[in-house]
Amino acid sequence: MDLQGKGIILTGATRGIGRETLKLLIEEGAKVVAVGRDGKALREIKGTYGDAVFPVQADLSDPKQRERVVGMAAEVLGGLDVLINNAGFGIHGPFLEVPEEKMRELFEVNFWVPIHLTRLSVPFLRGGGVVLNVVSMIAFVPLQRWAIYSASKAALRSFFMAVREELRKDKIKVINVYPSVTRTDFFNRAGSERIRGTGSVPPEKVAKAIVKALKHEKEEVFVSFYDGLLARLGFLAGPISVRLIR
Ligand SMILES: NC(=O)c1ccc[n+]([C@@H]2O[C@H](COP(=O)([O-])OP(=O)(O)OC[C@H]3O[C@@H](n4cnc5c(N)ncnc54)[C@H](OP(=O)(O)O)[C@@H]3O)[C@@H](O)[C@H]2O)c1
Repeated sequence: MDLQGKGIILTGATRGIGRETLKLLIEEGAKVVAVGRDGKALREIKGTYGDAVFPVQADLSDPKQRERVVGMAAEVLGGLDVLINNAGFGIHGPFLEVPEEKMRELFEVNFWVPIHLTRLSVPFLRGGGVVLNVVSMIAFVPLQRWAIYSASKAALRSFFMAVREELRKDKIKVINVYPSVTRTDFFNRAGSERIRGTGSVPPEKVAKAIVKALKHEKEEVFVSFYDGLLARLGFLAGPISVRLIR
């Protein structure tokens, strides 16, 4: 897909992987509806990118706000070419100590939000449109103390692999991107240090992989060769890593 002039909804655009992806999308000539909760970050984004960006402040855990986001996007972009489901968060800690309400909130944002936004966006997606999900390597290799986060990303992967086939007849592509540990605020916000025993990649690298995936319309995307290998060995790597990595 040539991104020049394309209309894109990008969730989680205010920081981390989303903020870097926004930068690259705009360099490619796309028009982006940038969604996040942080009003200050959204004002900065508008100041930096001007007419190429339409910031929308929304807490996506609220279904009404999701409807507002897609309605506004369809209007200001005059239709839609790409939906990028990037917003998400983690919770680190023993599951017995994590309140169930927090776990349900995580599943709402990481799993139900992409599904709802996709349902809302499909009627507006122009032929050849794309839904891209920022999943995680944790979908293949669950980690202890990250149980609900691991489950949310495994569910997201599975759901959209199935939906990919359903949307093919409408010429809508579904792309799943699987970053590994990335240097963003994610870990602080999850109440964790970065995962020990693993390396980490800068968010710019993940953003490049996302934009490349859109341009080449590749369906299953790993940020490095090693990640792809690990995912393919998931049936072996999962049971081992869940024991060794804390
Ligand atoms: N960092 C990693 O190691 C890693 C690895 C694999 C996958 N991922 C995935 O990559 C995605 C981006 O993560 P990141 O590392 O860039 O984390 P981040 O820096 O914490 O950014 C998370 C983004 O999601 C938005 N968000 C979270 N909850 C939201 C809500 N209820 N409503 C609206 N927006 C919400 C945040 O918006 P505000 O800040 O404006 O609230 C922020 O823009 C996530 O889906 C994450 O699971 C991350």
